[in-house]
Amino acid sequence: MRSPQFSLRTKLILSFLAVIVLGGVLSLFIGSKLIRNTLLTQAQAKVRHDLSSAWMVFNEKVSNIKEIVTLTAAREGIRGALQRGEMGILIQYLGHVRSENGLDILTLLDREGRVLLRTSSPDVAGDDESQDEIARLALERKTVAGPQIIPRGELLKESKTLADQALMDIIPTPMAAPRAESQETSGMMLKAAAPVLNETGALIGVLYGGILLNRNYEIVDRVKEIVYKGERYKGRETGTATIFQNDLRISTNVKNEQGQRAVGTLVWQEVKTAVLDEGKPWLTRAFVVNDWYLTAYEPIKSVSGRIIGILYVGTLEKPYLDTANRVMRTFTIMAALCVVFLLSVLYFSTSRMIRPLQRMAAATQEIAKGTLSHRVEVNSRDEIGALAESFNQMTDHLREANDKLVEWGKTLEKKVEERTQELREIQAHLIQSEKLASIGKLAAGVAHEINNPLGGILIYSHLILEDTPKGSPHSENLKKIVRETTRCKEIVKGLLDFARPKEPQMVLTDIHELLDKCLALMENHALFQNIRIEKSYAPVCPRIIADGGQLQQVFMNIILNAAEAMNGNGTLTLRTSLDPARQEVAVEIVDTGHGIKEEDKRRLFEPFFTTKEVGKGTGLGLAISYGIVKKHQGTIDVRSEAGQGAAFTVRLPLKRTSP
Ligand SMILES: Nc1ncnc2c1ncn2[C@@H]1O[C@H](COP(=O)(O)OP(=O)(O)OP(=O)(O)O)[C@@H](O)[C@H]1O
Ligand SMILES: [Mg+2]
Repeated sequence: MRSPQFSLRTKLILSFLAVIVLGGVLSLFIGSKLIRNTLLTQAQAKVRHDLSSAWMVFNEKVSNIKEIVTLTAAREGIRGALQRGEMGILIQYLGHVRSENGLDILTLLDREGRVLLRTSSPDVAGDDESQDEIARLALERKTVAGPQIIPRGELLKESKTLADQALMDIIPTPMAAPRAESQETSGMMLKAAAPVLNETGALIGVLYGGILLNRNYEIVDRVKEIVYKGERYKGRETGTATIFQNDLRISTNVKNEQGQRAVGTLVWQEVKTAVLDEGKPWLTRAFVVNDWYLTAYEPIKSVSGRIIGILYVGTLEKPYLDTANRVMRTFTIMAALCVVFLLSVLYFSTSRMIRPLQRMAAATQEIAKGTLSHRVEVNSRDEIGALAESFNQMTDHLREANDKLVEWGKTLEKKVEERTQELREIQAHLIQSEKLASIGKLAAGVAHEINNPLGGILIYSHLILEDTPKGSPHSENLKKIVRETTRCKEIVKGLLDFARPKEPQMVLTDIHELLDKCLALMENHALFQNIRIEKSYAPVCPRIIADGGQLQQVFMNIILNAAEAMNGNGTLTLRTSLDPARQEVAVEIVDTGHGIKEEDKRRLFEPFFTTKEVGKGTGLGLAISYGIVKKHQGTIDVRSEAGQGAAFTVRLPLKRTSP
């Protein structure tokens, strides 16, 4: 199957587009990942830092409680009243301290750990608290503080309100590990205990106080205020903090769908496993109540080091994702604009690059049609320019070769024509000389036979004429016989001259002199009276070896014929020329007479061919001339058209070759 036909430009643009789009998509993909990761990593680092701030707030609160309890336990008044057993004063004083410092409980034990008085519930006393984790340490004269899980029974002893504040319905939470029970009855408390010592330093009691964290939002809200400063995103608070009692949210500012604090909800299952079960911090994104947050969770440990809860801070992931998306969107739009810009640049630059090629393609088509003069106009100095230059050179060579071919064709035609003409002439000469030779033979035979009887007739006629008296009627007839017989004799002589011309007496002969002699002889002839004679002799003409007498006969014949053809009126031109190449002299005798008919031309040199009236011409003049010229190894030609005059050319070689 053939691939579809695309133009060069489309192919270029498509391949660039493929590279750009591929590169673009790849960089967009990598870019989006990078931007997301960078943004989220930075945000996550901030959250981790926020958790430290949350711990500061949390521990500050613990320290605060510890300070209150320690200072109160060390009071002189407390010690004295306790030693003296003044319970009324103690209740009043400690009650005042509790309410003054916002503590939920403030309880005094005796040195065995039995409750002497509960400020929140003075009626409930006498029970043993020596096994309480914190109280026990204080009984050992240590000052301690920390978070602690307090069962509902213990809370009820302090106050019903406090126990109910801790009581919490467990709300089923998506993605959380379900709990078997539906209610949490115990509470988590920040608690501090300090020993009460007498003057000698002996333990006389223990004072402990604390605040219940369940539904107490002081710490989490303070964290939010310090760390997130009320940041909001699309109407929602972004920063959140939570205190978990085990996996249960007991104090939080994470909101549920209804916009209320999501206390009673449970932690995400994965966080529970990592933090509560494995005791590791969780420092990455997590699902919180109903959305994804960038989070930090760390376990809250009791004074004995037992994990009893989790401290959490987190910020909504969505704003960061949206920022990343926004950046990506801007980036994508810019990339798309860049692609469009690049493509248009590409389109114009490929157009510029391809235009010369298109011109070349058009030029090749022109040249293929045969317009070899077509040139490619490319001015660029790159490879295409060089190509166009070579292409033009190639076309030039092609044109030159073609011109030569055409020229050669023409000269060939001319040459063929010339050769054909030459051949035709040679053939005509050949035919003519053969014909003349056979006629010559015949004529010679006849002439020889007739010559003797004619001689006899002439002698006897003369004798009879001499014997015939003057005035005899026969004398006139006899004279006629003598005249006609003489004429016959001349004819026969001419025939013999033609058939068996005398061997020429070759001497150095000046052609021009010879021609002038002929003219001098003719000048007085009646026919020449009104004929203008023009001479055009070659400036240099070497003498040739020839029989002057015989050649004179030839020229006289031709000149006389010319004069007769002009009927005594016209121009006779004598022209001589030297052809050094062919080593010959040409004598041209031109007249302005009636010319020669085409059909007569072939027969001109035949003996007895004449157009003159009977008795006027013998028709032997040209025949004899032909014989003489041939003996001189020359040629005789005629050019003529009826009514246009005639031109006879006699060509004679400068040097004779031995026959
Ligand atoms: N210059 C010329 N112009 C026209 N016709 C010519 C010319 N020369 C020769 N001829 C023709 O050629 C014929 C043959 O010429 P040629 O000289 O052989 O014989 P002739 O002139 O007729 O007779 P003769 O020369 O014996 O008196 C002529 O009769 C004439 O018709
Ligand atoms: Mg003649």
